[in-house]
Formats: sequence, C-alpha cells, structure tokens
Amino acid sequence: MPQEQTLSLIKPSSVSANQIGGIINKFEKGGLKVVAMKMLRLTENQARDFYDVHRGKPFFDELISFMTTGPILAQVLEGENAIQKNRDIMGSTNPAEAAPGTVRAEFAHSMTENAVHGSDAPETAETEIAFFFEKKDIYSNI
Ligand code: CMP
Repeated sequence: MPQEQTLSLIKPSSVSANQIGGIINKFEKGGLKVVAMKMLRLTENQARDFYDVHRGKPFFDELISFMTTGPILAQVLEGENAIQKNRDIMGSTNPAEAAPGTVRAEFAHSMTENAVHGSDAPETAETEIAFFFEKKDIYSNI
C-alpha cells in the first residue's frame, strides 16, 4: 500500500459545534497522521474555486453558502493508503447512508452539512492540498 497524503476539511457546522477534537480523534485512531493544519474562513470566491467541479449542480449554491458561514479546519492527513482510508473513516457523503462509527454517522446533519470533506483520488488530493498549503508548511514523513 502506498504512503499518501490527502486533504481533509472539517466544515463550519462541526467547527462551531466543538467537534474538531472528536473528528481528529477518529482520523488518528484510524491510522492517519495530521502533518499540516490551518483554520480559516473561505471567501465566496475561494469556496467556488475549491468546489469548481460541482459548479452548475443543483446543490452548488447551498454548498457555497454553507461553506462560507464560518471557519473551517483544513488538514493534510498522511499514511498508508491515506486517500481511501480517510474516505472509509468519513463514511458516505450522505450521512443517512454512513456506516456506524464513521465521522459522518456521528457528526453530520445532512448532505450539505456533512461534517467533513476529503479528497477522492491522488490527482484531486494534490490539487486540493496545494489550494490550502505550501510544501514548506507540510511536516511530511514520506
Ligand atoms: P464534499 O465531500 O464536501 O464534496 C461536495 C459536497 O457537496 C459534498 O461533500 C456535500 O456536502 C455536498 N452535496 C450536497 N448535495 C450533494 C449531492 N446530491 N451529491 C454530492 N454532494 C452533495
């Protein structure tokens, strides 16, 4: 299994609900290491750029509006098979379908307010990490 990095966002509703620690605990217990971290509030333009692949979809405006309601926590997670591992720990995008014990089963409220975002493939992980972090600010062990 390859050593990988993936981007994780803890979304505004989870930051405001004091769930940062509970969520990161699941990542760490699941074998992922936090190697970079930043709290920030996305501007509308930044949110639109980050979610560019979803532009034009019916949920896009609601997603952008939600993602700019307050600060998010951006992290780079690292480890063996990190991209898929993070997706397994997060659970299904739709919290109603998320397996018990996953982040979304425990912390998500709806499809839009689904607690976390994680990269879905190596190419997107690279682009999404670069969106938030410079290489020098990532304390990688790879
Ligand atoms: P995320 O992993 O951040 O990537 C895109 C987000 O769009 C997704 O999580 C959901 O929060 C949101 N979203 C809302 N509706 C849908 C939908 N029908 N399909 C996929 N994503 C959706």
